[in-house]
Order: sequence, then structure tokens, then C-alpha cells
Amino acid sequence: MPATIVVGAQWGDEGKGRVVDWLAREADVVARYNGGDNAGHTVIAQGHTLKLHLIPSGILHPAINCIGAGVVVNPERMLQEMDELARAGVDVGPGRLKLSAAAHIILSTHRALDGAREAVRGGTAIGTTGRGIGPAYADKAARVNLRAGEMVDAERFAERVAQQVEMHNRLLTGIYGAEGLPVDETAAAYREYATRLAPYLGNVSAIVGEALDAGQTVLCEGAQGLLLDLDHGTYPYVTSSSTIAGGALTGLGFGPGRVSRVLGVVKAYTTRVGAGPFPTELSGETGARIRDVGAEFGTTTGRPRRCGWLDAPILRHAVRVNGLTELAVTKLDVLSGLERLKVAVAYERDGERATHFPAEAGMAALADWRPVYEELPGWTEDISGVRRREDLPAAAREYVARIEAWAGAPVTFIGVGPEREQAIL
Ligand code: IMP
Repeated sequence: MPATIVVGAQWGDEGKGRVVDWLAREADVVARYNGGDNAGHTVIAQGHTLKLHLIPSGILHPAINCIGAGVVVNPERMLQEMDELARAGVDVGPGRLKLSAAAHIILSTHRALDGAREAVRGGTAIGTTGRGIGPAYADKAARVNLRAGEMVDAERFAERVAQQVEMHNRLLTGIYGAEGLPVDETAAAYREYATRLAPYLGNVSAIVGEALDAGQTVLCEGAQGLLLDLDHGTYPYVTSSSTIAGGALTGLGFGPGRVSRVLGVVKAYTTRVGAGPFPTELSGETGARIRDVGAEFGTTTGRPRRCGWLDAPILRHAVRVNGLTELAVTKLDVLSGLERLKVAVAYERDGERATHFPAEAGMAALADWRPVYEELPGWTEDISGVRRREDLPAAAREYVARIEAWAGAPVTFIGVGPEREQAIL
């Protein structure tokens, strides 16, 4: 079976974990390809509620779970998650969890640099998750970062960590006027992490490739969403990795011919955390209502998410950039009870109309574009118990049909409540 890629089609937090959990039941390998512990989703395992940031949610199913070369790994956080899962009775042994030797390491000084850089930006801060993501990817691109494979020799790894921390401390104290971190203590902590994580190192590209050759099902899990992509998002208000489907190829190491299915996860409305443009944002009562009903607070930072109407040009952008073959619509139930629904169907600037989201234009130009809305009737019924699409209220059915028409792709999953079974498949 060829590979399936699951991506976020908006600004992240679309509910990819839920969709991956659904698809992972049938997967032999589940592989995460980008980002780090900036991502997050809540899973329920054996009655325990767990927040996973790094480990794929396939860990709750029989699949082998991989963290690919495109991911930046904070070893301390990875071990914390493994310990939590183990306490909940989940097998997280090296036979079930593989960390690519080519994945990059996040050091505590990357986190300190993330905070220091945000502080210097002041009013133009990105509103990062503070997890050290940007500085770790910057060191990767500058070819000075540590990779996970170096953990095989814990002593040597600790020496290299000490060198990196010294270099970062010079930046922290000299450029940013911030405090440095203790060199020996940090190196000793990372020596310990290396000892524990070394048995998990593997060649993820080979694991994925061999699984595909053997006709097995590989599920590639993207973190964040399209508009946080470093190249195709609302730069500079983005994360530092490839969040799009193409990121799965580079982040795991396989070719485009192996992909048969690209599933875009779309929330029935739009949310965003952190700073940056958000044309359909609702600042009043309706936005607050969506936030409350949808429990729109970040899994990683707890920050309230900004909420707004669905944006069809963003969906079209997602379909084109990712080559989406189908859509999963999540949280449709959150819109129940709203009398009228608005959806941005195009953008307009000085009489000029665009049906694609003008992200490439850059932030200054984007500010000139105004969303053009269409109003649709809402529905008042509680839809959380609906399990067949034809049983949805007419207005909800119409809303989903319009999403398919705007995107030009079929909807194969509709989330109508937070529980696993509250979905229309
Ligand atoms: P960073 O990835 O921590 O550098 O943050 C960069 C931007 O991406 C900020 O606006 C964050 O709020 C946003 N971001 C990062 N990870 C996620 C996520 O998993 N969901 C939603 N937004 C995210």
C-alpha cells in the first residue's frame, strides 16, 4: 500500500491527531515528519488523558512509530512523553518507537535563544511556542547543529553539547543581554538523555521504504498547518519547517511516486495562535462563543486561540500546495446554534478579485486584501450523535457540500464531537 500523508490545511490545530488516530488503526508505520514539541494533541489511553507533542499518536495502536529526519527533537521532552505513556500502560519500547539518527536536537539554549529573540522583536514578535524550534532549525541550516545519531556515544555527545552551549551562551549574553546556561550541568543532563535514547535510534527512511516495498501502510503525520509553512505560509509569522505534504518526502526520505493519498484536515471554522495576519478573524461575541464551545486553547502553551470564519481561498491554497486528494472536516458541531454562518469565498483589492489566498504577496500586500463573504444559513440541532451524513440537518449538509465545491475535493471524515466515535466516516 502506498503512503498516506495527513496535513493541516489552515494554521494548525485542525485536529490532525484525531484523524491520525482514526487512520492509524490500519497503519503498519506512523511517521512524524516535521516540527518538534511545538505541536500538541490530547489523546486518551486506557482512561488516562495524555498530551503528546512529539510521539506520533499511532503509539496507541499496534503500528511502529517513527520520528523522521525533518523533526527537531527535545530529548528531555521526548523522554517525559515516553515515561507518561509507559505509566499509562503503553508499550514504548525500541521495537515500537524509532528516532531517525538524522533528526536534529533541540538544546535548552535553543529555547533560551527563542525567548531572547522574541523579546528583542518586541511588538513584532512572532508569538512562538518558546520551544526553541526556530533557533534549532536555524543551526541545522547553518550546519552547526547536533543530530540525534550523535547520541550513540554519550560521552562524545556531552562534549559536543558543552561546545554548543558555550557558543549559544556567547550569543545570549553578548547579543541579547540575556543569561547564559550552565555548561557542565547542561552537558551532564544531555549525557543522560543520550544514554536513554540511543537504543531508539534508527534509519527511518529505510524503515518507511521497506514497509512500502512490502506493501504495508505508511501514515505520514504532519505537524502545524499550511499557513505556518516556512515557504508557503504567512511568512514571517510561520514556524521554521515544511508543514506541507512535500515536507513528508524530505522529512522522512521517500519519493513522490509512493504517495497515493493526501488528506487535508480542515476545521469547520478557522483558528490561529500567535501573531500574524488572520483576515476572517472574529474579535467580538461570535469569536468568543466559538472559542468557548470549541475549547480553543493551545495544547502546548494554553494560549487562547484566535477564532474566525472559514476561509475558502485558504482551502484552495491548501489543495494546490499539498495536492490534497480528500478532506477531513473537524468540529462541525461547534457551529451548531449559530443562526447565520459567513465564509470568505474570495479576496478583493481595488476592484481586483482573487480566489486564492494571497499569501505569497507578503504581509504588507496581504493587508490590502479584504475577504469577500458569502452568508449561509446555520442550524440549531445538536449534531453530536449523528453518524451518517444524510442524517445531518440540511444546512449542515449544505455547509459540507459547499466546502467540497470550494476545495474541489471530497470530504471523507466529519468530526461532530471530541470523542473517538463522534465522527461521520
Ligand atoms: P514556533 O513553531 O514555536 O517557532 O512558533 C511559530 C508560530 O507557529 C507561532 O505563531 C506559533 O503559535 C505557531 N505554532 C507552532 N506550533 C503550532 C501548533 O502546533 N499549532 C498551532 N500553531 C503553532
